[in-house]
Amino acid sequence: MFRLSSSACAAIFVAALSATAACADPAIVYSVGGKFDGSFNESAFAGVKRYMEETGENVREFELERDAQSLQALRNFASRGNAPVIAIGFNQANALKQAAEAFPNSDFAIVDMVVDQPNVRSYVFKEHEGAYIGGLLAAMASESGTVGFVGGMDIPIIQRFLCGYKQGALSADPDIKVLFNMTGDTPAAFANPVRGGELATAQIKRGADVVLQAAGGTGLGVLQAAADAGVLGIGTDSNQNGLHKGKVLTSIRKRVDNAVFDSFNSAREGSFSPGIQVLGLAEGGMDWVLDENNRPLISDEMKTAADAAVAGISDGTIKVHDVISDGVCPY
Ligand SMILES: *[C@@H]1O[C@H](CO)[C@@H](O)[C@H](O)[C@H]1NC(C)=O
Ligand SMILES: *[C@@H]1O[C@H](CO)[C@@H](O)[C@H](O)[C@H]1NC(C)=O
Repeated sequence: MFRLSSSACAAIFVAALSATAACADPAIVYSVGGKFDGSFNESAFAGVKRYMEETGENVREFELERDAQSLQALRNFASRGNAPVIAIGFNQANALKQAAEAFPNSDFAIVDMVVDQPNVRSYVFKEHEGAYIGGLLAAMASESGTVGFVGGMDIPIIQRFLCGYKQGALSADPDIKVLFNMTGDTPAAFANPVRGGELATAQIKRGADVVLQAAGGTGLGVLQAAADAGVLGIGTDSNQNGLHKGKVLTSIRKRVDNAVFDSFNSAREGSFSPGIQVLGLAEGGMDWVLDENNRPLISDEMKTAADAAVAGISDGTIKVHDVISDGVCPY
């Protein structure tokens, strides 16, 4: 049954007689890594669920098994009039660009990458801001004076995460030592928990007693290795505090859910526009998690320091270095 669900939708229906195109369900194409990382994907899915619960609308979903399926999946949704069609993950950027060119009258969105097309809204995150909080808390929790970082694929957004982590750690302890390793140079570097565990274990042997993972599915091996060694991990993307209760210091969330919700809801309200949306701490795009799983690990002093840093970054009094716009990491 066809149902007009919002006034914006109805207005377009009357004006353009294109109800199917304008009012069809939004659609989402999850990335390959996302399917098994229980992290990025989970956050995207949380945004879908929230949209469906709050609006009573439907969402079409497709889970990629291979990157090569992305273009076809995006085209299929666009050709059926689904809008907007959102692609999760930087590895869908080329496919999304092609689909957006092929369907210039359809609205698209992408999370974690910029696609410069007149019908695409790109959501990117200030990873460095969240990472700063992770580094600050890591340095405050560390007893050894050494903390670790395991990145996934060696790409600018992960380098940006690393630099923010270093800056935050140094802000809490100017003598802190930060060990870091990237897992690889291909997207597979986000899906190798065994290698993640090896890299974390090597850092722990060199003295790290807190290790942050910025590595998607690879990071699950990092958190496991930290828990097994009796030291602390730090999760990313979604709330991973519960994966190893009492052994995950905090999680630096990338609010993919808020990006997905915003893209769908703005379309529903008729305010969807192309361009770049940059989401940091101040915009609710990044945050750190304090819940029942990590409460005993976060002292009042640590919480006060993290809250102050969030406030300072949000109002601009603390400037976190961004390797993408500011150049080489000075730390
Ligand atoms: C997301 O990941 C979770 C956990 O791995 C899985 O249960 C779920 O089916 C995935 N959902 C999508 C839409 O990819
Ligand atoms: C991690 O990086 C350090 C510093 O670059 C390097 O010496 C070390 O071999 C790397 N560890 C592994 C296990 O690759």
